[in-house]
Amino acid sequence: MAAIALDRLTKVYPGGVNALDAVGLDIADGEFFALLGPSGCGKTTLLRTIAGLEEATGGSVLIGGENVTALPPGRRDVAMVFQDYALFPHMTVSDNIAYPLRIKKVPGGERRAKAAGTAGELGLSALLTRRPGQLSGGQQQRVALARAMACHPRAFLLDEPLSNLDARMRLEARTFLKRLQRELRVTCVFVTHDQAEALALADRIAVMEDGRVRQVGSPAEVFRRPANTFVASFIGSTPMNLLDGEATGDGTVAVGGARVPGGPGAAGLAAGEKVVYGVRPEYLEYRTEPAEGALSGEITVVENLGSAQLVTLDGPAGSVQVVVDEDTEVPLTTTGWAVPRRDRVLLYRDGELVA
Ligand SMILES: Nc1ncnc2c1ncn2[C@@H]1O[C@H](COP(=O)(O)OP(=O)(O)OP(=O)(O)O)[C@@H](O)[C@H]1O
Ligand SMILES: [Mg+2]
Repeated sequence: MAAIALDRLTKVYPGGVNALDAVGLDIADGEFFALLGPSGCGKTTLLRTIAGLEEATGGSVLIGGENVTALPPGRRDVAMVFQDYALFPHMTVSDNIAYPLRIKKVPGGERRAKAAGTAGELGLSALLTRRPGQLSGGQQQRVALARAMACHPRAFLLDEPLSNLDARMRLEARTFLKRLQRELRVTCVFVTHDQAEALALADRIAVMEDGRVRQVGSPAEVFRRPANTFVASFIGSTPMNLLDGEATGDGTVAVGGARVPGGPGAAGLAAGEKVVYGVRPEYLEYRTEPAEGALSGEITVVENLGSAQLVTLDGPAGSVQVVVDEDTEVPLTTTGWAVPRRDRVLLYRDGELVA
């Protein structure tokens, strides 16, 4: 088990794609760390560069305090689990799990015993003689994990390991992975483009955009105080409302003709400063009548979220989404109002959070 430190890690692919742009990260020993970001932002490249499967163009990778930047993958002592699991179809579960031990020239008997032990920890004992084609997606995922665990690596690097599972299995596998990581206390770097998965699993999250890290923090930090509008729009199962506004100087913000509460950030702003007004749909209170500090609009869309409804108001401020409880009647085409929760309002100036 080991900490991982990245310093100004840069990767330029042949052809000039700048996939990693001076990435700096300190991942603690035993931490469950998520790399989150949209497709193409460099998550896989970052993981592969840590593993040594890609050569860094600049910067360094330290694992357990040792500079491994120039070491081949086999000498970095980390295990990578790929998105498609990359199991050998012609080998049994037992042989798949034991494969890395065979590469390390561990004798046959010891190899099988270790594979059986790891399989037991992951609830795979009954499946040892099957081949990958005879397993469900979730079982294949566990075999891939078992194969990674069998050599007791210093860190696990997981590239979207849940993305091949259906929604239900994915939730189960997520809980399983979290429990396993707790028990093993092994450093885990976990790649996902699913913000809910990152929030649920990680001790800390790095949110990436275009090869750069835009914010690092605990799930609560990146959810409550996204450092910039990119992170604000990316985190949250219903996207944050980000509306054009102007500070008034008296603690409120003018948004589409309404004066709405400016929240903690408003104190530091002068009258007339342009801001982006951020408030999550969960932190707006729906009203059927005009109210002080409310945004208004015509109710144009009502989406059923199960235990709540997501209502879209189209008004002078643009489109505003509000979460409304399941029992409230929300009649389409009538006017609705939404009052922001003062302590949950976030203001952004030039894209960055106003502290
Ligand atoms: N071998 C390669 N040669 C050239 N460019 C590449 C190569 N691999 C990746 N890239 C480019 O580098 C950037 C980062 O790719 P990467 O695969 O790391 O993204 P990602 O965040 O993992 O995306 P996804 O969520 O789709 O898996 C992309 O612009 C991609 O097109
Ligand atoms: Mg990827």
